[in-house]
Amino acid sequence: MRQRLKHRIADIVIFGGTGDLALRKLFPALYEMERTGRFDDDTRIFGASRSEHSDEDFRAKLEEAGKKFVPEGEFEAKTWKKFAKRISYVQVSAGDEAGFKVLHEKLSDQPDRDRVYYFSTSPALFADMAFNLKKVGLVTPNSRVVLEKPLGHDLDSCREINGQIGEVFDENQIFRIDHYLGKETVQNLMILRFANAMFEPLWNSAHIDHVQITVGEEVGAEGRWSYYDDAGAMRDMVQNHMLQLLCLVAMEPPYVLDQDAVRDEKVKVLKALMPINDSNIDTSTVRGQYRKGAVGGKEVPGYLEEEGANVDSTTETFVAIRAELNNWRWSGVPFYLRTGKRLPKRHSEIVIQFRDVPHQIFPLAKSMTNYQANRLVLRLQPDDGIHLILNNKNPGPGLVRLRPTALNLSFAEAFGGRSPDAYERLLLDAIDGNNTLFVRRDEQDIAWQWVDAIQEAWQNNHITPKGYTSGTWGPSAAIALIERDGRTWNEEAGF
Ligand code: BG6
Repeated sequence: MRQRLKHRIADIVIFGGTGDLALRKLFPALYEMERTGRFDDDTRIFGASRSEHSDEDFRAKLEEAGKKFVPEGEFEAKTWKKFAKRISYVQVSAGDEAGFKVLHEKLSDQPDRDRVYYFSTSPALFADMAFNLKKVGLVTPNSRVVLEKPLGHDLDSCREINGQIGEVFDENQIFRIDHYLGKETVQNLMILRFANAMFEPLWNSAHIDHVQITVGEEVGAEGRWSYYDDAGAMRDMVQNHMLQLLCLVAMEPPYVLDQDAVRDEKVKVLKALMPINDSNIDTSTVRGQYRKGAVGGKEVPGYLEEEGANVDSTTETFVAIRAELNNWRWSGVPFYLRTGKRLPKRHSEIVIQFRDVPHQIFPLAKSMTNYQANRLVLRLQPDDGIHLILNNKNPGPGLVRLRPTALNLSFAEAFGGRSPDAYERLLLDAIDGNNTLFVRRDEQDIAWQWVDAIQEAWQNNHITPKGYTSGTWGPSAAIALIERDGRTWNEEAGF
């Protein structure tokens, strides 16, 4: 039986409506919801930002961006026309009540409607926007606010913003977005672990040797140089996306799939992270910064040669970390994390390396160069899928030779169809008021605490980034970080 789609009635306001994220991700995601019939006819969408635009201008700007950013083959003129009819524009400046009053006039005819305010602006404006929404009477029990990252720069600034937003919205009305949690494969990780009986009994230090999490990007800092330079890979990727992935790999099964049950389990993982500080900073982290090189056959400039760069910058564009969890399940199992810009390819994966068999009866196994114990690779992007590496017999007579072979599941081949963008999924959840895939305040605090300690230790120990050539997997120290433990990063294994 075909499932009936739910048609949502809501008022959605995108602050920062002419910004890069709105044009590239948010409006295309809303358009996809239109195309797939998720909206009731009465749903309205408002773009809000400082600049002056008529509704027509704004829609034209969105359409131009839509043609570029809606996935290939999915832009349909007729559907876009219907979508555009829902959209209007309001000129609003974060600190100026006047624009909010205009917004109030537009929304007040539907006081009980679900409202989603998406703050896609600099976090420095979040508090003003929230206070002004409240002042003009736009915060109702059915209102929710979505906060884009980065939420602050460290624990203190994050607490300050959360405190201010918390004066206006209740915690269950606040949706802190981490778009990695909306990725299909990331959600599939929970299904793989908790809807299949075969992995969970092995999912612990008795059977798992170590875990690797890699998020590699080809892109550099480019047009976002000054934002990126304030953040660096640690704040831009590790504090949020990488730690969220680690949580999903390491957490205990929640007793129910509900927003607090899931997030309670993630908090326990974050609390169990062993601190990295002055005592272990040298052996636990590597900072890198890209130099000029070639990525995908194209020459690219170094980080310090990008347009608008400050040539003295010591911001890291690559980080590798050896993390450990102080808990029963994971004691002694290292989690190697690495992420960077200008790596050889866009490639993200989680590798679960199982321990070897307790007693090897095949004499040639150990002498084979590519011998390896079982390995589960969860590929997040591109080509999302699951690869389980098993040892098999190399066909032929004579001595038994082993050959590691992958059992491959490609999601595209297995399920066909389109894979929705993370923002599409998360926006739908925000409209529905489902907070499960959003980050709770305490989760964020603990993640910042851990990250702040690393930043402080870098500073105290004068650890500056090591250069790496664009198009390589980061500084050689990142390879040494894992090889010191007698292990290798997954690409070296050739799968
Ligand atoms: C963002 C970071 O949160 O995630 C970017 O700010 C990064 O620097 C991006 O490029 C990566 O997202 P994705 O979905 O392309 O892996």
